[in-house]
Amino acid sequence: MKVLVVGGGGREHALVWKLKQSPRVKEIFCAPGNAGIASLARCVPIGAEDIPGLLAFARQEKIDLTVVGPEAPLTMGIVDSFSEAGLAIFGPTARAAAIEGSKVLAKEIMAKYGIPTARFAAFSEAGEAAAYIRRLNSPCVVKADGLAAGKGVIVCQTVEEALGAVEDIMVKGVFGAAGSRVVVEEYLTGQEVSILAFTDGETVIPMLPAQDHKQVYDGDRGPNTGGMGAYAPAPVCTPEVYQTALEKILIPTVRAMAAEGRPYRGVLYAGLMVTGEGPRVLEFNARFGDPEAQPVLMLLETDLVEIIEAALSGRLGEKEIRWRPGAAVCVVLASGGYPGPYRKGYPISGLDRVPPDVVVFHAGTALEDGRVVTAGGRVLGVTAAAETIAAAIEKAYAAVEQIHFEGMHYRRDIGRKALM
Ligand code: AMP
Ligand code: GLY
Repeated sequence: MKVLVVGGGGREHALVWKLKQSPRVKEIFCAPGNAGIASLARCVPIGAEDIPGLLAFARQEKIDLTVVGPEAPLTMGIVDSFSEAGLAIFGPTARAAAIEGSKVLAKEIMAKYGIPTARFAAFSEAGEAAAYIRRLNSPCVVKADGLAAGKGVIVCQTVEEALGAVEDIMVKGVFGAAGSRVVVEEYLTGQEVSILAFTDGETVIPMLPAQDHKQVYDGDRGPNTGGMGAYAPAPVCTPEVYQTALEKILIPTVRAMAAEGRPYRGVLYAGLMVTGEGPRVLEFNARFGDPEAQPVLMLLETDLVEIIEAALSGRLGEKEIRWRPGAAVCVVLASGGYPGPYRKGYPISGLDRVPPDVVVFHAGTALEDGRVVTAGGRVLGVTAAAETIAAAIEKAYAAVEQIHFEGMHYRRDIGRKALM
């Protein structure tokens, strides 16, 4: 079969890497892809949000299966467009992807169906949000309703910070229309875990629990990023947490979406805070996480094409999903200045010195005169699997030592929480 992967980051490189191992896949394309993906797939210069362009390409090439990486095309309705055209595509429809596209909607559904999450209120008037924050008079989190490239969530320790966040989002409009409404929610403490699950709308099969590292500096300090590294499985997700997450969060959410006329098929990502009272939902995403997909897909033993086909035909319940024993760790190498402004175009050296059993997934890279150069904030995800998390950490960091580009920085403590 011919497969098309939509997107061009580390997650999409991991998807291409895994899908390509399927004996079912004869040819694989990626739009737009990147320099690393180009060594496995034919990259086509169509943007991930150019739905008419992608549809025309899929028709022309007679693509048998399309797999979507990022959230933007999902919330814009790529799955609806492809399905109407009779093309197989894996991911939620626009109405289902709204669970990520609108935080107000996600919170309202959680409230209505009793899915454990932080207490909250939603506002479309800045003055009302400000009054609520003053009454609350405690640390809180202010979230822009719509997609804001991972920047729309502001954790506020003081009332002043929270008022400033409302001013920025609703009055100054720093996230545009995404900030016409906000959610103000209770500040939760604990460790975070990402549980991604395959679902056909009925059956829910969670993947190995993963832990992301959102802040830019070691010890979870500094501003939030798209994710500086991840590992799986995450021991913070004990069998008890896992069971609660499945029974009280993932399954009820998939049922709720169906009841709301938003049947959900694809990957449902629950970002959870493991609190003293059990797991609470911080956010839902409508797709694989990035960088969580890198370690999780490295440990997936079952053919991903078979899982996707079972999900598309509503037969996921018949499918057994197997995982490799051990653990995997992904360390993200970022451009100097990221998550703030950074420069691109620096040559990357040492990729050929990385041992063959470590996979360097490319995120922001490009080919320039035959050389691999930096082309984004998160540049590479150095990913290794081993029998234990400690061995995987060591293996990934030994490979990191081989790689260099101007301004490169990374966290040195990816996976450390798993060892405590
Ligand atoms: P989100 O995109 O909603 O997951 O938020 C991004 C990050 O903000 C999360 O990964 C948490 O680190 C933090 N965060 C979000 N909501 C809360 C909350 N209610 N309490 C504490 N931290 C939060
Ligand atoms: N790693 C967080 C996300 O994919 O949203």
